[in-house]
Amino acid sequence: MKTKILVCRAIFPEVIEQLSTHFDVDYNDQDAALPAEQLAARLADKAGAVTLLSDRIDATVLAQAPGLKAVCNVAVGYNNFDLDAITRAGVMATNTPGVLNDTTADTAWALILASGRRVVGADKWVRDGQWKGWQFHDDWLGNDVHHATLGILGMGRIGQAVARRAAGFAMRVIYHNRQPLDADAEKACNAAWVSKETLLHEADFLVLLLPYSPATHHVIAATELAAMKPTAHLINIARGGIVDDNALVEALQAKRIAGAGLDVFENEPALDRRFFSLDNVVLTPHIGSSTRATRLRMASLAADNLIAALNGQRPPNLLNPSTFAG
Ligand code: GLV
Repeated sequence: MKTKILVCRAIFPEVIEQLSTHFDVDYNDQDAALPAEQLAARLADKAGAVTLLSDRIDATVLAQAPGLKAVCNVAVGYNNFDLDAITRAGVMATNTPGVLNDTTADTAWALILASGRRVVGADKWVRDGQWKGWQFHDDWLGNDVHHATLGILGMGRIGQAVARRAAGFAMRVIYHNRQPLDADAEKACNAAWVSKETLLHEADFLVLLLPYSPATHHVIAATELAAMKPTAHLINIARGGIVDDNALVEALQAKRIAGAGLDVFENEPALDRRFFSLDNVVLTPHIGSSTRATRLRMASLAADNLIAALNGQRPPNLLNPSTFAG
């Protein structure tokens, strides 16, 4: 009899096929999260799960799934996991780092350019029939991206990929991390470590790439927004909750900063509706890693992790090594 696993939400048929050669797969083929009670009920007799960002794995769920050995997230972020509770339960947890760096960095750049040059508002204005003829002092004067200062808060793998792309725009790149990168990595990104205060004061485009945790909750709030230049743009492709959305709406309404490009929000998808009436914000629906090729690589890597974990091998992206018996 094959080991039973749950795939919590629709992924790709080829990955279900990959998993089915090893496991008896219970598949939620809807692209909608299972309600918490259903998730727990369907995990009750499973040894493993492929989870997505919308699947909360915590002590309550774990208590109902005594045979669970591994939970494999299809995402690099894993704030849907209570990692302490998972580790206490002796369950292996994995994520999908690496395979989405370039795609997510591209998304950061889409938002930098769209926000700086007001692409989305201008598109809407044309579609609405408001363009009456070419203007010199037009309604769409934006902020230059080239030769501007790119600031990155959270200089991990994705931050470094964002920084490397700045060379083509002749930008100065500054970043803040708890630990500065080593000299070779800094050189490869042509980036300089600065304090968080300097980053806020000097960035023309401030890109957030921190993981979300209680420690990074509202790292950007009213005080930080007030420290930014009035011509600056804030780009968040990391996680909702890192930014205080209420403070950001107020800063955008008052034009205390020039604009924002946001892929993530507090309370997704029920974001603050005041964003909808602002023409200085670009909104995308958490699509940072969303190309077919990358999402397929992520799902396939999660499957590789689960196959290894349930076959007694150390999964390549194990987050809690103490749970691996070896
Ligand atoms: C997406 O948000 C991820 O963490 O992979």
